[in-house]
Amino acid sequence: MTTFTRQISIWVCTGILLAVWLSFSMPSSAAAQDITVSEQSFGCILDWPKVRNTRFKHEDPAKLKEAMRIFRESEPDKEYPVGTILQLVPFEAMVKHPRETFPKSNGWEFFALEVSEAGTKIRDRGDDHVVNLLLGASCQSCHQPAAKFDFVCEKGHGCAPLSIDDQTIAELQKADLRWTKK
Ligand code: HEC
Repeated sequence: MTTFTRQISIWVCTGILLAVWLSFSMPSSAAAQDITVSEQSFGCILDWPKVRNTRFKHEDPAKLKEAMRIFRESEPDKEYPVGTILQLVPFEAMVKHPRETFPKSNGWEFFALEVSEAGTKIRDRGDDHVVNLLLGASCQSCHQPAAKFDFVCEKGHGCAPLSIDDQTIAELQKADLRWTKK
């Protein structure tokens, strides 16, 4: 092999190594792709499937199924798929982003919503500053004890119970004003 061809083969090898390295490093950044949430992301929760009290939305049917399974089986140390929207009542929501977007809440963004027949308005959104005005407490302070269940309180995940019972939750859901828009 001449010095020249040896030089060429070193370049080719370096190129291949670089391509391999890139192909390994690219998918991890693609997996952390964030989602955009606007008022249009929400809608009448009576249209969404539910497990026990909680309503679910995900654009991808497979991920919707996975989110509902994690919830139904109360699986610990498991993260909900990015893009999952959870609602217990029409005026509050949790939306899952990649962990890095909201590190204090493992990626969850809390929403306080104003719902009317005209649609959804976002009153507040973010992590630890968003509060439930009636309860005078932040969403995150109540949901934090359920960190082992990816901040999902449900029942028996360590959160202080709500002052409303299942019957009242069902009635609040049925009163979702966006229903009349259909
Ligand atoms: C006083 C404590 C408390 C506060 C404050 C609170 N939550 Fe919750 N949240 C709970 C409990 C407890 C449940 C489980 C209720 C059940 O299923 O019986 C729950 C359930 C939920 C659920 C259904 C999924 C789950 O975690 O079980 C969502 C979504 C939710 N809350 C969002 C919010 C948002 C958004 C805020 C703030 C605007 C908020 N919560 C404020 C205690 C609280």
